[in-house]
Amino acid sequence: MTNTKTDLRDQQGKSWVYSDIVKEHFFHPQNILLPGEEVDYQSDGLGYVGSPACGDMMKMWIKVDQKEDRILECKWQTFGCASAIASTSMLSVIATEKGGMKLDDAMKIKAQDILERLGGLPNRKIHCSVLGDKALQSAINDYFKKTEQFDRVKIEGAKIIDDQLKITDKDIEEAVLEGADTLEKVQVKTKVGTGDPSCLPEVEQLIKFYQDKYYG
Ligand code: FES
Repeated sequence: MTNTKTDLRDQQGKSWVYSDIVKEHFFHPQNILLPGEEVDYQSDGLGYVGSPACGDMMKMWIKVDQKEDRILECKWQTFGCASAIASTSMLSVIATEKGGMKLDDAMKIKAQDILERLGGLPNRKIHCSVLGDKALQSAINDYFKKTEQFDRVKIEGAKIIDDQLKITDKDIEEAVLEGADTLEKVQVKTKVGTGDPSCLPEVEQLIKFYQDKYYG
């Protein structure tokens, strides 16, 4: 990654022209999950995020080499725009190239790293590149939880609701976005409150809040 921040700002700000790399990844997205294709990653990680800036969605699955602690595969789907598609395509390449990134390093991938590899994006499209890295972090956290490595779960900008299982308000939001509309269904997806049920009243409030927000 040789570009400086100044280089990137220039490329993003001067015009609305997309770099050739962005166009290549938009027209030929890597690791995208096509309609009809399925992933069999039930035991690995699933991440799901929405963009507060535009309302678009991103879903990401990872397959992990448990012994090496590396990402073997990274598949994704999005309702996002061309910039989101190109950014996430590049992110999936970064995460899986050279034998796969170590999970701790993949957790630290930032939008800036993706922009550097893409040769920049127009300023107003920067938020689209955040969807992929947030979905990847969510998928890695999901893997850590499924493999009971709770001390490795990294939580940014989210409130922990279930301290025992490190489940946040974002996890509840994701479960609702995936269609869980009752406490029981949210528990099937997240296991929230199954160890310490004292959080359940707050979970029920959150389910109602996100139901109203997205489907009300
Ligand atoms: S405008 Fe929503 S992801 Fe780009």
